[in-house]
Amino acid sequence: MSMEDKRVGFALTGSFCTFARALEALEQVAGRYREVTPILSERSASTDSRFGAAAGFRAKIESICGRPAVDTVAGAEPIGPKKLLDVLVICPCTGNTLAKLAAGIADSSVTMAAKSHLRNGRPVVLAVSTNDGLAGAAKNIGALLDKKHIYFVPFGQDDPVGKPTSLVADLSRVPETIEAALRGEQLQPVLSVRH
Ligand SMILES: Cc1cc2nc3c(=O)[nH]c(=O)nc-3n(C[C@H](O)[C@H](O)[C@H](O)COP(=O)(O)O)c2cc1C
Repeated sequence: MSMEDKRVGFALTGSFCTFARALEALEQVAGRYREVTPILSERSASTDSRFGAAAGFRAKIESICGRPAVDTVAGAEPIGPKKLLDVLVICPCTGNTLAKLAAGIADSSVTMAAKSHLRNGRPVVLAVSTNDGLAGAAKNIGALLDKKHIYFVPFGQDDPVGKPTSLVADLSRVPETIEAALRGEQLQPVLSVRH
């Protein structure tokens, strides 16, 4: 199967300040792969914030992918049994979703998509974006770094002085990280200095 035939799931969780950059990453991914399925966490699907309205984001995401977003646990469940995806990207990935993934909780569309997809031993790519990355979420990132089939978009501190525990992935590297993950490799260096 050529690279462009790999089927990608692109899931967005509720780091709303990252959505504009995540949509740019999604556009790049959609330019490389024929089939990209958008997945919205229930929070992403329903939260209007100062960064934009939920309906507007959904419309853009669905238009980039050319297909409707999966936004429920029931909608995500067939991903594993029907082997619908070759790789699942969670971009952005909140501290909340990191905690659930580390604990094996699957009570949202995105965590269910991950659980369902992982049963096939296929890669999940995480693009972290959370203010507590070097605080409460650190242990979850650590647990996930040590888990099979989980790969990280290189990440670093986005504002060491203003937000000393905040971590954000370098979203310009999402396509490269997906390619490496499909080969079973973690893109390096995983810790990126300021970007
Ligand atoms: C305006 C706004 C911005 C947020 N930004 C972030 C963020 O950057 N990172 C994060 O981990 N959570 C952030 N949150 C909190 C998450 O949206 C919240 O934990 C939510 O339950 C996440 O659910 P999900 O992981 O299923 O999408 C933000 C919430 C709001 C309302």
